[in-house]
Amino acid sequence: MRQPRLHDKNCPDNCEQVVYNDCMRLRNIPEAKEIVAKSPYVIKNPAERKGRWSAFSGGPLYVEIGTGKGRFLMELAARHPENEYIGVEMYESVLMRACQKMEGRPAMDPASRSIEAMEQETDPAEFTPPENLHFLRMDARGLPEVFAENEVAGIYLNFSDPWPKARHSKRRLTSHEFLALYEKFLIDGGVLEFKTDNRALFDFSVEEFNEAPNWELRAVTYDLHRDEVMGVDNIMTEYERKFSLLGNKINKLIAVYKKPTAEAEEETKL
Ligand SMILES: C[S@@+](CC[C@H](N)C(=O)[O-])C[C@H]1O[C@@H](n2cnc3c(N)ncnc32)[C@H](O)[C@@H]1O
Repeated sequence: MRQPRLHDKNCPDNCEQVVYNDCMRLRNIPEAKEIVAKSPYVIKNPAERKGRWSAFSGGPLYVEIGTGKGRFLMELAARHPENEYIGVEMYESVLMRACQKMEGRPAMDPASRSIEAMEQETDPAEFTPPENLHFLRMDARGLPEVFAENEVAGIYLNFSDPWPKARHSKRRLTSHEFLALYEKFLIDGGVLEFKTDNRALFDFSVEEFNEAPNWELRAVTYDLHRDEVMGVDNIMTEYERKFSLLGNKINKLIAVYKKPTAEAEEETKL
């Protein structure tokens, strides 16, 4: 079985991810820009909705950051029509795949097809896009321009880029810098769920949550697919499927944001 290595030399963008031969960060695809621009599933001026998302959404808002080709949210949104889901992805060449899937076009590579679709031999052309799912093409660092305080009920981070060099640690989506950013729009009691096969990134993340004063780690597993509690109803992402087929164990944590009271905030200012 092939062992993971830090960086696959074939990766066209030298993206520093833990990748094999099939780096998700695709070479620039010329038509991607147009496909994303024309997709009805991509919200074009999201900042205009800041503070008013409830006027557009039918239920609590959940955000996946680094959504990739979108299969996780497509399944989650179909399972929970009572919620609203937003997938955030910074690369058009990746988001393009999610847009195509939402339009019912067969996935280009079999590995990105829905596992349920393959198991049940469902024709991807019969796929009905969930009405409660949309995408944003942007860097997560800009999310406070899009969501106001208390607008987001939960965050999903799946197989986030590990940024293995210490000097890049603040780019990791579970760094304390990013946790502080999420605090700007999460509700009190808002949940963050994070999955990865990368143990070094996972250990770093557990430490970041343990040290963050406003976050409480609720659950941790180092082998999600064999965990009788946390493994229930798990939805596999594209990366999760590929990495677990390689024999990698999947780690998952669930953390809850505890908004500080006004008095506690006053005290920290003193
Ligand atoms: C390793 S892939 C995982 C994709 C998917 N979540 C999965 O599990 O299959 C990470 C994705 O996160 C995206 N990403 C990384 N940093 C981001 C950021 N700051 N804002 C938005 N997307 C980001 C990358 O472009 C990439 O598509």
